[in-house]
Amino acid sequence: MSKNTLVEVKNLSVHFPVHGGVFSKRVASVKAVDGISFSIDRKQIVGMVGESGCGKTTVGRAMINILKYVAPDVEVGGSIEYHFGDETVDFAKLSPGAVRKYRSRVQMIFQDPYASLNPRMTVAQIISEPLQLHTDMNSKEQAERVGWLLDKVGLQAVQARRYPHEFSGGQRQRVGIARALATNPDLIICDEPVSALDVSIQAQVINLMMDLQDEFDVSYLFIAHDLSVVEHISDKIAVMYLGDMAEYGNAQDVYHTPRHPYSKALLSAVPLPDPSRKNRQRIVLKGDVPTPLNKPSGCAFRTRCPIAEPSCAKIKPIFEEHAAGHYVACPIVKK
Ligand SMILES: Nc1ncnc2c1ncn2[C@@H]1O[C@H](COP(=O)(O)OP(=O)(O)OP(=O)(O)O)[C@@H](O)[C@H]1O
Ligand code: SF4
Ligand SMILES: [Mg+2]
Repeated sequence: MSKNTLVEVKNLSVHFPVHGGVFSKRVASVKAVDGISFSIDRKQIVGMVGESGCGKTTVGRAMINILKYVAPDVEVGGSIEYHFGDETVDFAKLSPGAVRKYRSRVQMIFQDPYASLNPRMTVAQIISEPLQLHTDMNSKEQAERVGWLLDKVGLQAVQARRYPHEFSGGQRQRVGIARALATNPDLIICDEPVSALDVSIQAQVINLMMDLQDEFDVSYLFIAHDLSVVEHISDKIAVMYLGDMAEYGNAQDVYHTPRHPYSKALLSAVPLPDPSRKNRQRIVLKGDVPTPLNKPSGCAFRTRCPIAEPSCAKIKPIFEEHAAGHYVACPIVKK
């Protein structure tokens, strides 16, 4: 850990119990996140990628401690240690009540700006809600801050009286960004913030988020499907597969010298503007991601891995440092 480390996620697991039968007994559990480790520094952007269902949103929800609202019987293991000044707080251990004190420090922007904003609240109410809950600002100060934030995200203060349905998708996501920034958080979990928007406005919203990240000195965990987006904005990249972390390291290292076969396959599908990388062969993965209800033994990727060996079925790979700061969960590529 360096003095710049904002949050350290260590061996985080999130299991959702599945109940069945007449007595609603626990019959299995969905291992949505299965022991992952990574960290985010202050003012850093960590991009998180992986196919649908691999656990990205669940990691984000765990890091903001809202899983209990989604699934009250969820089981969370490991630790999520935030370093707020001299104070270290483990969000994996605190109850939602105890976390309330720190809510202003970690915020989230959701994938779907249509669903994530309360349609019955005005934009002013939406943005000032975190100010009411987490600051002692009076209503005049809150209104001033709302106007200032709207300006920062490219909207007008007069639009504060309007309701979400009066805005376009891009504008609504700007409202979501203003709300997330309202309390000057240390970290914003950005869960696919542009994937529900028209392609034509995605770049505008990403550029805005990058400018604001710089201005507000905030860190982002930027969850995305689109690897080409993450490459350009991230300092570090985390590649997830079926609840496991396959690879994590500096963005340039992961993009230019991916080591895990899954990262290689994901990256081979990204169109390349860089001529020096044009000859990269497309690796097509066979089959779908298996269900986290019944994960393959050993390495979870082995059912689709082009270089799997018999030993891959026996032991779950250790997430190891293969080069300075470059972590990979595959003993075969290390040989
Ligand atoms: N509340 C819940 N109860 C039970 N299972 C859940 C719950 N939330 C998520 N899961 C399961 O956990 C796994 C990971 O889901 P998650 O939404 O975190 O994936 P994701 O990587 O964000 O996918 P996507 O790219 O589609 O958004 C999935 O198998 C999902 O069905
Ligand atoms: S451990 Fe085996 S199956 Fe898993 S990624 Fe490495 S080679 Fe492939
Ligand atoms: Mg998701």
